[in-house]
Amino acid sequence: MTATYLDHAATTVVREEVARAYAEDLQRLGNPSSTHAFGREARRVLEESRESIAADLGAHPTEVVLTAGGTEADNLGVVGAFHGASEGRRAVAVTAVEHPAVLDAARWLGTAQGAEVTELAVDAEGVLDLDGLAAHLARVGERTAVVAVMWANNETGAVQPVAEVVAACAAAGVPVHTDAVQAVGQLPVDFAASGATTLALSGHKIGAPVGVGALLARRDAALAPVLHGGGQERGVRSGTLDAAGARALATALRLAVAEREEETSRLAALRDRLQDGLLALVPDARVRSAGAPRLPGHLFVTIPGTDADAVLFGLDAAGVAASAGSACTAGVTQPSHVLLAMGDDEATARSAVRFTLGRPTTERDVEHVLAVLPEVVARARAAHAPRRATAAAATRLASAAGAGAR
Ligand SMILES: Cc1ncc(COP(=O)(O)O)c(C=O)c1O
Repeated sequence: MTATYLDHAATTVVREEVARAYAEDLQRLGNPSSTHAFGREARRVLEESRESIAADLGAHPTEVVLTAGGTEADNLGVVGAFHGASEGRRAVAVTAVEHPAVLDAARWLGTAQGAEVTELAVDAEGVLDLDGLAAHLARVGERTAVVAVMWANNETGAVQPVAEVVAACAAAGVPVHTDAVQAVGQLPVDFAASGATTLALSGHKIGAPVGVGALLARRDAALAPVLHGGGQERGVRSGTLDAAGARALATALRLAVAEREEETSRLAALRDRLQDGLLALVPDARVRSAGAPRLPGHLFVTIPGTDADAVLFGLDAAGVAASAGSACTAGVTQPSHVLLAMGDDEATARSAVRFTLGRPTTERDVEHVLAVLPEVVARARAAHAPRRATAAAATRLASAAGAGAR
């Protein structure tokens, strides 16, 4: 059994209070869209939850579009904005470090829907290059349907300059979608103050179950539905309304927001202890996005001479759960697209390990990681060295044969 779980950005534990509230409403009979007494009661639960979610995120209840999670909310924010935009706005821009829920939605618009898609550059810290955005908007701002910039990155934890992006886009009349899936509960998130047109959040990152989330969408957001059906949720998100899920999300959010300040300073202190300890044990490891404002519970490091898979395998065997980056792609060995966008070479982008701390994390967890790390890294390096030697020999052979290494 895994004794130390440091993968809270992938998913975190469902809170006791949330599980109780969820269970209570799971067995409630009635479709919130039905007009009989059962339906009305379910609708009451749903609407009270919506009001609570709105209040905790600086939104109006009518701006809360409930979804089945962050991926769906992101797709609606990007694809919905593209299809809802006026005829002349066929361009879409997203930062190169977005989660696949945004990045691949935008790429699909490019390959299948005729969108002109731009992936906006980030700097070496993984933060959007605002001059690049300004130049982009000067060129195609008037033709742009939506710009997407995440509030905080799921791999590095780097916080993006959402306010500056909104200001730049406002001048060109361009709506902004922000993926706040990792930010909610970790940073103060106020939808109205942010000026964003749409904002995505997900329940299972903050102590609600998987399968519930929301898109906050301003009333003037021109969104076309992605799911077609019964026309629920302002006509942009069809599907039977999930009162139990809404209550779970509202309950988790209320707790996360109430405890945020205290909890995040506790997490930041633990993260810093882990970071300092790790650098003392593995001095050539590199903490990524260390020069940017970062989420308090994120530690993303590249470890030269290793493959993340080998490090994760060793950690797992020693009872520590961490990840290589985005959990959604962690099953497939790919270099981190975030690190590639930050200018890393492939080998470095394959050597990244992400530790993310959460509410259950204690000092003991940090000490556990630090106790096992030197051996895990040594083994990963030993496994890596012969492969590197083989690759170098193959390259020498290929150039001797005049093949040229491509
Ligand atoms: C930044 C970010 N956006 C979107 C998602 C997708 O959310 P969900 O798992 O609720 O579909 C994730 C999940 O890893 C994420 O980290």
